[in-house]
Amino acid sequence: MKHLQYNFDFEVYDSITDLSEEDASLLAQARSMTDNAYAPYSHFFVGAVAKLANDKLVSGTNQENASFPVGICAERALLASSAALYPTVPIQTMAISYHNHNINGNNHHPISPCGMCRQALLEHETRYGQTIRLILSGQEGKVYIIAKSSLLLPLSFTGENLGM
Ligand code: THU
Repeated sequence: MKHLQYNFDFEVYDSITDLSEEDASLLAQARSMTDNAYAPYSHFFVGAVAKLANDKLVSGTNQENASFPVGICAERALLASSAALYPTVPIQTMAISYHNHNINGNNHHPISPCGMCRQALLEHETRYGQTIRLILSGQEGKVYIIAKSSLLLPLSFTGENLGM
């Protein structure tokens, strides 16, 4: 028997003002994009904006449904939109933010993409052979930058597991 470890490094910034101009702009747009979310059930409004390899920007917001499982997260809405608009162009960087309208909700902790979105991000990385850099934040406060989204999904399941 042996123990194996999985570690990853990521960058933590105190504020959007510590980011490069380009990253700050992407995050500011993700923060604003939360206004376009449709979240009447959770009141947790998520916005994502990505820069593609062709320099185009694509956005996504969460879209909820009275039949809860039908709803889709902002990240996967963005991935679908990007692949529909620019099917051959990979995403380089995605900024994700949220606006929590719940009474006890805070808005300063960096968002953490859900497991299903981590799997979808990984598929995009595999499909395009391009890693996706993530900028994660709330409406204010600290910012996490993760060099590639696959770091968030160790021991992942991919097409290779299907023998493809
Ligand atoms: N949600 C996202 O859109 N992205 C995330 O990274 C976390 C969660 C959405 C799903 C649902 O509409 C609401 O936030 C509460 O879970």
